[in-house]
Amino acid sequence: MEKKPLVVVNGLVRKDAIAYLKEHVDVRQWTEKTVMPREVLKEWLIDADGLWCVRPLDVDGDLVKNASNLKVIAQAAVGYDNVNIDELTAAGIPYGNTPGVLNETVAELAFTLIATASRRIIENANFVKDGRWAQRPSNIKGFDLSRRTLGIIGMGAIGVSISRRARAFGMTVVYHNRNQRLDDKIHKTTYMELDDLLAISDVVCVMAPLTDETYHMCDEAFFKKMKNTALFVNVGRGPIVDTKALINALKTDEIDYAALDVTDPEPLPADHPLLDVENCLIVPHIGSYTDRTRLDMSILTADNIIAGVHKRPLKTCVNEEVNYKKPQMDVEFALEELKKAGVDLTDFD
Ligand code: DGY
Repeated sequence: MEKKPLVVVNGLVRKDAIAYLKEHVDVRQWTEKTVMPREVLKEWLIDADGLWCVRPLDVDGDLVKNASNLKVIAQAAVGYDNVNIDELTAAGIPYGNTPGVLNETVAELAFTLIATASRRIIENANFVKDGRWAQRPSNIKGFDLSRRTLGIIGMGAIGVSISRRARAFGMTVVYHNRNQRLDDKIHKTTYMELDDLLAISDVVCVMAPLTDETYHMCDEAFFKKMKNTALFVNVGRGPIVDTKALINALKTDEIDYAALDVTDPEPLPADHPLLDVENCLIVPHIGSYTDRTRLDMSILTADNIIAGVHKRPLKTCVNEEVNYKKPQMDVEFALEELKKAGVDLTDFD
């Protein structure tokens, strides 16, 4: 029997996705609850055809330098800030991410944070739960979203999905992006320079990827440029924000409130100073975390890996220049072969 390709999975992923993967390849999985030691992973990769990578893991040239059979790496995430794409491209290894399938889900979470924070839902609900309904202080008021301005930083497909929700709530949407989009008229959005956006926005929502340019973009100067009454939301990546500067801005009323899906570090240790900040709502990086979307992301990851180990094109490849190409069909050759095989071609147009 022909040997199946071998795929290494360096951590825990959904069981249904592993079962699907196993229909096509052999799987060697790290099933301990501890993070797989990097040196052990490197050993395992020597014989592997594919890697399903699970964070925390830095994927780079060093990780794959002895993995001479490795044909594909994929991860169930749209962001790939833990992956050195240039070094994988140099090694000729295509990398698959999961764009598209999570857009609406992440936008729902972003808007849920905006709505929850604007009406101080958590604080108000806690008074009721604690049996202190009547003692609720009058300063936990919240603010309207309608007739307010949302400033989105990083206007890709998810940013556009957030803007649709904001407009349904009666908000004006402005955005800052590397490039101005060509479809502003369709989405009723307005491009702005970053400083102008910070000066006018009542809600600032970061949805940018983490890159050298966006690392610590939200620093002391950034928060000073925001309105004192503004809500700051981060659904992009934790290290885009200088956490010390955020804590300071919240404690000194430079800004009013923050709602975060992502933090730096992740997970936050129990004694982290951000946890003592009252006007800050934090959820544990659950942007894409619904059952249906996590399944879609896992199946897309498995499909990318199954394609890659067979040297077929990955469905969603970040470094297209090393993605596998569809085999070109030589029609003349195919017709000759069919004739040789005795197929009567007169029945075909
Ligand atoms: C991603 O896909 O990059 C998200 O952060 C996962 O929730």
